[in-house]
Amino acid sequence: MPEKIRLGIIGGGGDSLIGVLHRVASFINDNYEIVGAVFNADHEQSLSFARQIDIPTNRIYRDFDTLIEEEMKLLPSERIQVCSVLTPNFLHFPMAKKLLDNGFHVICEKPMTTTLGEARLLQKAHEKAGTVFALTHTYTGYPMVRQMREMIRAGELGKIHKVDARYYQGWINSVIHDPEERSRVWRLNPKKAGISSCMGDIGVHAFNMVEYTTGLQVKSLLCDFNYLYDDNQMDVDGTVLIRLGQHVKGVIRSSQVATGEENGLAISIYGDKAALRWEQERPNFLYKITDTDPVRIYKPGHAYNSKLSLDGTKLPPGHPEGIFDAMANIYLGAARAIRGEDYNDGEFPTMTDGVRGMTFIEATVASHKAGNVWVDMD
Ligand SMILES: NC(=O)c1ccc[n+]([C@@H]2O[C@H](COP(=O)([O-])OP(=O)(O)OC[C@H]3O[C@@H](n4cnc5c(N)ncnc54)[C@H](O)[C@@H]3O)[C@@H](O)[C@H]2O)c1
Repeated sequence: MPEKIRLGIIGGGGDSLIGVLHRVASFINDNYEIVGAVFNADHEQSLSFARQIDIPTNRIYRDFDTLIEEEMKLLPSERIQVCSVLTPNFLHFPMAKKLLDNGFHVICEKPMTTTLGEARLLQKAHEKAGTVFALTHTYTGYPMVRQMREMIRAGELGKIHKVDARYYQGWINSVIHDPEERSRVWRLNPKKAGISSCMGDIGVHAFNMVEYTTGLQVKSLLCDFNYLYDDNQMDVDGTVLIRLGQHVKGVIRSSQVATGEENGLAISIYGDKAALRWEQERPNFLYKITDTDPVRIYKPGHAYNSKLSLDGTKLPPGHPEGIFDAMANIYLGAARAIRGEDYNDGEFPTMTDGVRGMTFIEATVASHKAGNVWVDMD
């Protein structure tokens, strides 16, 4: 077994949603060891969480800048090699940039930045650093999403003509109707979330899934947002018509006020020979449908799956793997890249996906604000 990769964590404290997913994912394939962190903005909270999860507190730093300063004093053989940035959106850019500028590898949460301008600056910093940058669009780590991508690449759907991606949640219903409650949610605060709530938080996952599975790029889009209230600055629902080519069209539907919906990400890709359909809440089933044959259901771990899909499965068929395993697959790909080993294209989303995501978010806002007009993604 090669030496563990020394991992630092920024954000993702005990009070966070995403922290546990990254910590567990980093352990799953035995590649990483958490050696340093700033789990929370509040140092005492950070220290107490480190004690709770049994991580030595000598490298639990007061804040992010101190982490960089102190780690740079250590020998490269002791220093943190890669940092996961799990803070609210507005901190991704300054933190990821400083990490890259100091030669660290970075695993960063989405959306990559809060503006396209920042995304481009980060891309330049990454080119200069030459280190690994992985963006955690978690759903690309599911074996059946990888299978979908490989089947489309192999031409099993024929010529693609229609794509439909949907990401529906309902949780903002519990806060959106009360301005006081609303003001406490960082996802509804443009200073912390960026220019979009719904499209920036979840629509961008659906967009990423469209480009990841089809291998096509969205060329232009038309977006219609719903803010629900005049005094709410952030979209909580949006429908986006997309064009991926002259005769390849589709829709991305995204909502945080779809009452009763939990984490309803679903994608269907239709070609002239067949179609594929996948849903996040039933991630181990990939449906192939045609106009002529009975429905085919693909499941993980079977030899009929592609190499990329099988690489993301650890247990024999019938042992359900889920979101922790999907994230673990992204960490596995990043570990291979950090160690300079061979890895498959598609093992983890990259800087390019981050720039595409920010282009998408800005284009949706521009389209809506200009009166729901077509906007180029180039
Ligand atoms: N990949 C996914 O599917 C997915 C899912 C959920 C969230 N996310 C992303 O993860 C990020 C975090 O989301 P969340 O829901 O966990 O947020 P959260 O509000 O639940 O947690 C944020 C954490 O960051 C910490 N933090 C805030 N400021 C900090 C600072 N200056 N230094 C150190 N720590 C600080 C907070 O204390 C908290 O522990 C967001 O960018 C979000 O878009 C991604």
